[in-house]
Amino acid sequence: MEHKITPIQPFGLLLEPVNVLNNLDDLNITVLRELVSREHLIVLRGFHTFHDTESFSTYCERWGEISIWPFGKVLELIEQENPEDHIFDNSYVPLHWDGMYRRQIPEFQIFHCVKPPLAGQGGRTTFSNTILALKYASSEIKKRWNKVTGIYQREMEFYNSKTISPIINKHPYKDFSIIRYNEPPVENRGRFVNPPILNFSGIDADELHVFHNSLRNALYAPTNFYAHEWQKGDVVIADNFSLLHGREAFVSKSPRHIQRVHLLSDPPFDNPSLESYK
Ligand SMILES: [Fe+2]
Repeated sequence: MEHKITPIQPFGLLLEPVNVLNNLDDLNITVLRELVSREHLIVLRGFHTFHDTESFSTYCERWGEISIWPFGKVLELIEQENPEDHIFDNSYVPLHWDGMYRRQIPEFQIFHCVKPPLAGQGGRTTFSNTILALKYASSEIKKRWNKVTGIYQREMEFYNSKTISPIINKHPYKDFSIIRYNEPPVENRGRFVNPPILNFSGIDADELHVFHNSLRNALYAPTNFYAHEWQKGDVVIADNFSLLHGREAFVSKSPRHIQRVHLLSDPPFDNPSLESYK
């Protein structure tokens, strides 16, 4: 089957069918997995996708073991009327890695866009390639980051957990370094429901501001950062071990509906940073 492959700037690949609409099912998953492992993010656009949640999770199961949440396999990301957590609000979501508060860290996320926000309504999903962020950072800055450990506590509907993780980590299975960081919510970006408790050790309080700024500048630098603007039927597969991700704010009552599944690695990767989990 033919498809067109276009590089995304500054990282990732866009795959589209040539001529006629193809079924996503026809794409070879071994090949796709290699592409995600190498490029860290792939966007599959213009394919026949899924009619319902069930057919989406059935497709994801072909990739491997799905991480099961209290709500099941598929998270339905839709704005809620009175959200108890920022995930279900229309606010921005700071950069983080998925599973940071859970017993196992998923290797990949598979997102499916059921309905995109309208043009100009915001709501792009943001991705930062931490391998590139480290590649382009000066050794002086990296030395500073290397001293710092994040202490993160978060209570929400599905868990109440504490995670302690150095900023610079080794990739769980590969021979390179990555960044693990939950960006503190930026105050001037509006209300933020249920913020986590974030502390950072290994750095003096008067240096914290400079530290967060240097990390943010690197993670959001155009050389390392990609924001995905959703189109209906888009499927995005992202490398959660190497990237951090978040969300831009969007206009309330936008028709934004994204589904997300977590895929575990084989064998599953037990969260090395989890201090407590309830
Ligand atoms: Fe997330």
